[in-house]
Amino acid sequence: MAMPGDAVDALAKAELHIHIEGSLEPELAFALARRNGVDLPYGSVEELRRAYSFTRLQDFLDIYYQGMSVLRTEQDFHDLAWAYLERARADNVRHAEIFFDPQGHTARGIPFATVIDGLHRAIRAAAGKLGIEASLIMCFLRHLDEADAERTLDLALAHREKFIGVGLDSSEVGHPPAKFRNVFRRAREEGLRLVAHAGEEGPPEYVWEAIDILGVERIDHGNRAMEDRALVARLARDQIPLTLCPLSNLRLCVVRDLAEHPLRRMMEDGLLVTVNSDDPAYFGGYIGDNFRAIGKALDLGASELAAIARNGFRASFAARPAG
Ligand code: HPA
Ligand code: ZN
Repeated sequence: MAMPGDAVDALAKAELHIHIEGSLEPELAFALARRNGVDLPYGSVEELRRAYSFTRLQDFLDIYYQGMSVLRTEQDFHDLAWAYLERARADNVRHAEIFFDPQGHTARGIPFATVIDGLHRAIRAAAGKLGIEASLIMCFLRHLDEADAERTLDLALAHREKFIGVGLDSSEVGHPPAKFRNVFRRAREEGLRLVAHAGEEGPPEYVWEAIDILGVERIDHGNRAMEDRALVARLARDQIPLTLCPLSNLRLCVVRDLAEHPLRRMMEDGLLVTVNSDDPAYFGGYIGDNFRAIGKALDLGASELAAIARNGFRASFAARPAG
């Protein structure tokens, strides 16, 4: 029995896989472009939205990095994060661990402090004004080299109290987690929490590397872990959470159809799965839309959807003491 949509709204949620730059709606992109005198190569909001048609991760990333060009001031980063947080509140999100991609900005000459100060001001205000406990996780871009990630960590450590962890995102295939072993070791020594995207397009070996070489505490996506039974057993034994993003998987052709999504099989295998939005402005939905879409496609019942929502809190760093 599928769950009625308003019952999904009623579930308190934790969102653990959201790229703040991926929450940039075309309307806000145009408003910021105007405010900053930036030219967007699209004539209208509708034309920009029509460009959001992807057949794989790289198609999306090319547009995602282009979209970032409108973000220039501390106020821009604040407004971006605030728009997400208000939208998340409407979906009954109470806890959010939010990714940001500093190298997408520092490479354009935006100071690291401008980025993190704007984002941090918004998440600080969210606790009192929206009732959302939010924190930041800085992702390294894996298509760049480890030296660039090391320099980014150096910049970030001057703002140590404003973020809780590091992650790894961008073009996966050809950029295995092991490429970042040294910078993740240093992040761990600084007491930062560790996550990595793995097994979205990349093979199960990348998930093994993320766990055993980087020492991550959660896997972002992890779909392709299902190709390796020993890996599934490891994820189940250690209850290593997977942050799944069904609509992202559909729009990036990681799955052909949501009915083929591995979420139900993962639950049957005892994995700790969560549902998240990834890049909601680009993939056609926020976290509530993701719950409704996957619930309908896999015929998940009310108790299953409630269990997945609870998993979000169980998998959060608020619930898990640093090891
Ligand atoms: N995968 C990899 N990198 C990303 C993603 C994603 O889904 N979203 C933003 N950067
Ligand atoms: Zn992601």
